Amino acid sequence: MKGVILAGGRGTRLMPFTKIINKQLLPVGPYPMIYWAIIKMKKSGIQEILIITHNEHLSNFKTILADGSQLGVKITYEIQPYAGGIAHGLMYARDFIKKDKFIFMLGDNIFEESLLPYVKNFIDKNEKAKVLLTRVNDPKRYGIANINKHTQQIISIVEKPKYPLSNLCVTGIYMYDSNVFHNIDFLEKSCREELEITDLNNIYITKNQMSYEILKGWWIDAGTHTSLFRANQLVQAVLNQSETSEDK
Ligand code: TTP
Repeated sequence: MKGVILAGGRGTRLMPFTKIINKQLLPVGPYPMIYWAIIKMKKSGIQEILIITHNEHLSNFKTILADGSQLGVKITYEIQPYAGGIAHGLMYARDFIKKDKFIFMLGDNIFEESLLPYVKNFIDKNEKAKVLLTRVNDPKRYGIANINKHTQQIISIVEKPKYPLSNLCVTGIYMYDSNVFHNIDFLEKSCREELEITDLNNIYITKNQMSYEILKGWWIDAGTHTSLFRANQLVQAVLNQSETSEDK
């Protein structure tokens, strides 16, 4: 199992900082945001990680993370030439993944729980694709999963639904097999001129190849000033807690 972290994007909601610094390098607790995704992957047993970002920020990532050895992982890099959507960014992982399975994470996702049990299920059950869901209070803002009440299967994912059928939001934590690149080839640009991750996931759903699990701890997408502030509070609370339990 390998890991891919998408760390580009425009970061318009975090202006003016993102005029000079990549969103995923902004501070969350004592580290740049992207450390948390790397740490979560490492703790779930992943040693080889690809970071995909834009050319203008690549040197900053290399200065901070280098080859990953300080964090105990092997990091390599690919460039997404422009912000053409999440599924567009994922295309640049093709050579790195080859025939492997992998976790794909958005670099602005911060969460509490270990990924280990989810990765284990994905491998043990030989799943082709998996999304991790979380319950949210404002489902109109997210990609929302519709679940069949009888079969408990995922029926579709609807991006920012006007009339949400559940409060289960699709987080930026996905798992795929290498067929994902074949599926991306069938995607067409959306009305905002992007290759959409929701369209990609709906291909798997149509083929009955998508599984899901619901995250238990907190999860946050640190893409706005308010949520970045909240992510800092949540991470600091976890760090304070582990310091206190070490003192005992
Ligand atoms: P978003 O938060 O959807 O987009 P953004 O980062 O451009 O921010 P904003 O909407 O404020 O302009 O992106 C989710 C994650 O995906 C984030 O970690 C950045 C990453 N991303 C890319 O790496 N490439 C892309 O083309 C896009 C759209 C996002």
